[in-house]
Amino acid sequence: MTKKQLTITQPDDWHLHLRDGQALNSVALFTAKQFARAIIMPNLNPPVTTVVRAVEYLDEILAAVEGTDFEPLMTLYLTDNTSPEEIIAARKSCFIKGLKLYPAGATTNSDAGVTDISHCYKTLEEMQKAGLPLLIHGEATSPDIDVFDREKVFIDKTLIPLTQKFPDLKIVFEHITTKEAADFVLQASDKLAATITPQHLLLNRNALFQGGLQPHNYCLPVLKRDTHRQALLKVIRSGSNKFFLGTDSAPHTKHKKESACGCAGIFSAHAAIEIYTSIFEEQGVLDKLEAFASFNGPDFYGLPRNSKTITLVKEDWQVPDEYSLGSDTLVPFLAGQTIHWKMSA
Ligand code: NCD
Ligand code: ZN
Ligand code: ZN
Repeated sequence: MTKKQLTITQPDDWHLHLRDGQALNSVALFTAKQFARAIIMPNLNPPVTTVVRAVEYLDEILAAVEGTDFEPLMTLYLTDNTSPEEIIAARKSCFIKGLKLYPAGATTNSDAGVTDISHCYKTLEEMQKAGLPLLIHGEATSPDIDVFDREKVFIDKTLIPLTQKFPDLKIVFEHITTKEAADFVLQASDKLAATITPQHLLLNRNALFQGGLQPHNYCLPVLKRDTHRQALLKVIRSGSNKFFLGTDSAPHTKHKKESACGCAGIFSAHAAIEIYTSIFEEQGVLDKLEAFASFNGPDFYGLPRNSKTITLVKEDWQVPDEYSLGSDTLVPFLAGQTIHWKMSA
């Protein structure tokens, strides 16, 4: 009996952490094997805040994926001090595809992030003019806000006013996790879109506590109640073109995750397209996978769709318990579990 197969236009990953140095060399090829392009997050330590620094980082990534056709789409890390001139330089460079807004203190390596969005108004105006998208980690950071409410509070306090002040600014609401975010994106203008990660489609917050504390399921924004996951699955089934693939694959060493103060981030690049495929199959909408993974992202960013294709085969394989990360190891998403689709070489 021949196995079930699916051929789609090669996908892109619109939200990816590749890190730098040894870690970059350990993880980059996982993504380059599956995706034609990826939006590379700039939250290195220190962050990538200038076009000059982004060129160096781009070269480092290209060296790590040598021999492949993978195209890194670079971003700059927005700070209180990012100048309008830097935006003009970014636009002229042609290879900077967006600026990333991390509210200061919201997530991994966000200490240099924006303390108050009003500090960036001149810069955002220039981005609006240049058609350069703002990519947002959408969580309010005030310590008195419940950790599960941070996305909703960000929408009300920051995102709505921002879209009113800059109606033509392109915005990607990254890694959305709540019904409120899904509803907000659906009713927003076509200048605003969102990425959805595999973990927020697959898991709810119970996964953080199943049989004990599960640090490898900890990411930011943190997993939510199942009603929110159901809302994300509903937009997936709807086939709305405002949502696209962004893994947020975020490698951390095993010992930094399994620590008294474990850090946030889930590594999924080893099986990204296969995990999304399983989710779409389970939802009965395999026919909607290609638009989500390969069309909606480039259409929003104003880039051409890929011309190559990939083929996925319905075939079981087991995720290893660990992969190497530099001289250390990492525990991948769904470690030890069986995945029912495999991308053919
Ligand atoms: C990301 C990381 O480790 O860089 N972590 C995460 O939990 N998602 C940062 C981010 O995307 O917020
Ligand atoms: Zn984030
Ligand atoms: Zn991220």
